Amino acid sequence: MSAHLDETRRRRTFAIISHPDAGKTTLTEKLLLFGGAIQMAGSVKGRKAARHATSDWMALEKERGISVTSSVMQFPYAGRIVNLLDTPGHADFSEDTYRVLTAVDSALMVIDCAKGVEERTIKLMDVCRLRDTPIMSFVNKLDREGRAPIDLLDEIESVLQIQCAPITWPIGMGSSLKGVYHLLDDEVHLYEPGRNFTRQDSTIFKGLDAPELLARIGAQALRELRDELELVQGASHPFDRAAYLAGQQAPVFFGSAVNNFGVQLLLDFFVEHAPAPRPRATITRPVDPVEENFSGFVFKIQANMDPQHRDRVAFLRVCSGHYAAGMKALQVRTGKEVKLANALTFMAADREIAESAWPGDVIGLHNHGTIAIGDTFSAGEKLTYTGIPNFAPELFRRARLRDPLKLKQLHKGLAQLSEEGATQFFRPLLSNDLILGAVGALQFEVVAYRLRDEYGVDAGFEAVGVVTARWVRCSDAKTLEEFREKYAMNLAVDAAGELVYLAPSRVNLQLAQERAPGVTFAATREHA
Ligand code: G4P
Repeated sequence: MSAHLDETRRRRTFAIISHPDAGKTTLTEKLLLFGGAIQMAGSVKGRKAARHATSDWMALEKERGISVTSSVMQFPYAGRIVNLLDTPGHADFSEDTYRVLTAVDSALMVIDCAKGVEERTIKLMDVCRLRDTPIMSFVNKLDREGRAPIDLLDEIESVLQIQCAPITWPIGMGSSLKGVYHLLDDEVHLYEPGRNFTRQDSTIFKGLDAPELLARIGAQALRELRDELELVQGASHPFDRAAYLAGQQAPVFFGSAVNNFGVQLLLDFFVEHAPAPRPRATITRPVDPVEENFSGFVFKIQANMDPQHRDRVAFLRVCSGHYAAGMKALQVRTGKEVKLANALTFMAADREIAESAWPGDVIGLHNHGTIAIGDTFSAGEKLTYTGIPNFAPELFRRARLRDPLKLKQLHKGLAQLSEEGATQFFRPLLSNDLILGAVGALQFEVVAYRLRDEYGVDAGFEAVGVVTARWVRCSDAKTLEEFREKYAMNLAVDAAGELVYLAPSRVNLQLAQERAPGVTFAATREHA
């Protein structure tokens, strides 16, 4: 097999989606430990400390170096190379979190067994659905009392509209947690707090009739398990890999991340079944990862907050071919050939200089504001990857300038910062307001800080009556003109000059949609 095909097939590039506190950080730590990236555990903790600094931007800034390194974590496991892309989730939740999901091949959904499907998980699943991203699910915190497993599966199926295929099933819960049963392997894995670190030091029984099992878990637990399994096998779906790969079915695991219980079963199954990089759409044609020529797209830009090094790192997902240090590539949007020197890879704990990268890998390109979100780099062909959109912001503020003479700098600053993708800015058609939109509240503080620091502009942000935005499109010029006139009060243009409807309320949005059936209201906008 060629090295290219082999390296591509080995890659598993994914992200974790969850509501804050479900256990994403803890699970990440355990996965990294299995991958041998022991030192990494420290930096994940460091980032965790930062998450409490909701309004303390300076503290967040201090952690910035760490969050760059933990943006992408690569580790080897069972002959595969796993790339875990971080989805900022606490104070640092932003549009980046959504866009990271456009750069993965699959996702892992972590659910707290006491809380079930929570709001943030629903939103992130919606983003995954845009590309039918395959999802696996880990129901966490089994060492605590939670809801009945069957109810949890029901909730996932009905709220998230995805079939569940349990792969492991809990035996008891909370203080009476005895272990999990692996439905496909027909094995019972006992829960032994303080042990269970790897398969080697776990007690495993083959089948429910294994002689010692009864003695270990007791007659009642065994009976209950048999009853439940009968019910589950009747009511749920058997694992169907094609349905999983189509994003229609989620294999489900149960465990306790903090006790490292059930995690290796998940990881083993994940590396076996989760998809390797697959062909991706561009405007002109799908590109297969095993094509010889290099190509990839930028899905995230992160500014280095250290004033000594005011560079930005653009995160590029390799989609085809092979990256080698120092190679040249075409930046398709600008038409310029650039040398990709000193790209970063994200092996284990440290940023390292990438010597090479394969499809599924992410490399970090240094830049001084010349690279934008959605940029495609190729070996020369004019390819433009699609599916890396802007997402409609969920929070809006009006910029308030303290020194009117700085208006020009304010415009420039907001435009440049919105190119990094964490915020967007809008200019209403009928007023001189500047409205900033974001997905996470901290972004307003970040922008205020950076406007001061980098553009010398003292601006604040105040409440504005907008709840959501939709990009407005209409192929019929007359209909569009009528719409523009009727809704001029609520229309604005974004940084790219596209027309946007800023909804004063959800009801207003709904009414506008009903009254203008010829107009589409898009919740995402592709980059030009
Ligand atoms: P997040 O990244 O999804 O926000 O969650 P994180 O891993 O930080 O976990 C949130 C809290 O839940 C942490 O407790 C963590 O220890 C706990 N936790 C994670 N997995 C399990 C589990 O399997 N069982 C139980 N009982 N708890 C779990 P914390 O009190 O916020 O922090 P810490 O001081 O305990 O670390």
